[in-house]
Amino acid sequence: MEEFDYLDEGEVYLDSACQSLRPRCVIDAVNKYYTEHNSCGERVKYKWGVETDEKVEEARNLVLKYLDLKPKKYTVSFTLNTTYGINLILSQIRADAFSKIMTSEIEHNSPFLSSIAFHERTGLPREVMKRNEDGSINVFDYDFTDAVVVINCASNFDGRKLLNIKEVVKAVHKAGGIIIIDAAQAMAHSVDILRGVEVDAICFSAHKLYAPSLGVIVWRDELDAKLVRGFVGGGMVDDVDKDSYVFSSENKEHRYTRFESGLQAWGEIIGLGVALKWLMKLPKSAWRNLENNYTELYEYLNSSAKVHFVNHEANPTMSFYVESLDSHLLGSALSRENVMARTGYFCVHYYLDHVLKQPPLVRFSLGLHNRPEDIDKVKKVMEKIIH
Ligand SMILES: Cc1ncc(COP(=O)(O)O)c(C=O)c1O
Repeated sequence: MEEFDYLDEGEVYLDSACQSLRPRCVIDAVNKYYTEHNSCGERVKYKWGVETDEKVEEARNLVLKYLDLKPKKYTVSFTLNTTYGINLILSQIRADAFSKIMTSEIEHNSPFLSSIAFHERTGLPREVMKRNEDGSINVFDYDFTDAVVVINCASNFDGRKLLNIKEVVKAVHKAGGIIIIDAAQAMAHSVDILRGVEVDAICFSAHKLYAPSLGVIVWRDELDAKLVRGFVGGGMVDDVDKDSYVFSSENKEHRYTRFESGLQAWGEIIGLGVALKWLMKLPKSAWRNLENNYTELYEYLNSSAKVHFVNHEANPTMSFYVESLDSHLLGSALSRENVMARTGYFCVHYYLDHVLKQPPLVRFSLGLHNRPEDIDKVKKVMEKIIH
């Protein structure tokens, strides 16, 4: 694809689940900000600042459009990454408004550890739910009464999705709970599962969405009543007295400031807006190319008796180990052939190591930049290594 023409021939990048490659239009937009209107947003009156403000506002609107959520009910705030977003919310949740915290066994350390920290801070009980092989949760097995639920809607080791997300959200809300979705993996290639679903908050990382390094919190305005004030500073207030202040977020127009303390990454926010426009305009052939690539690679590897997958089906993200071959050594061998893939437990230590008792794994995570030639190359290299 033209947008990734900076990739050298023979360079195969298979780590999109960590950071997707950035299309040229995104890189150009960030450069443009730094070279043409480098200015602080939301405070300055000179013309560079006006241009920054327009583009930052556009990016906020595009996030809601991409997720098919209504601006009347939801607000978009920027932060550092998914981990920071989840921690920021959990660290400010009022313990007296809830009875427990629930997460699931297949989580990345980001929600997994922050749910432990929540339990330690509040003393509220913590429960780890099971996930089926297809990623769904058996809602009738759990009591969601007044619970804070924090779970992913797509995993980072095999891409399994929270297939019954609507049923889970309904059950949690009916029982008086709230649900925070870790959408770090869903946003780039599985956003359909999330579109229009009215959860309480969605946290994701723009760097896994073909955009610059940035975190995003999309949150329902009603969540505000369940939060204490915790992490505060510049850019968040309308007035300050000796011992008190007036939060700007009390005003719908400035609600996003609730989680935005201090200056933001304006150029990166603008880059996110451009990435979303690019994604929403991609031709069907780009998605078909991705599907063909990951299906072919999965089927090829799965046909070898020596390859053991965690995946139960083809997905752009796939994890496996090869019998009698240390995954880290395999990763280094792949790297010598210019194939870039991850090895280990990908921050899912509890599930992959302690529940499934897998050895360290190899993860191939494909993206829209991958060419059919990449797959031919990986197949050839794997053939050489395995046999
Ligand atoms: C499902 C999931 N959640 C959370 C994270 C944490 O993302 P970040 O490191 O950008 O905070 C990741 C990162 O890989 C992830 O895949």
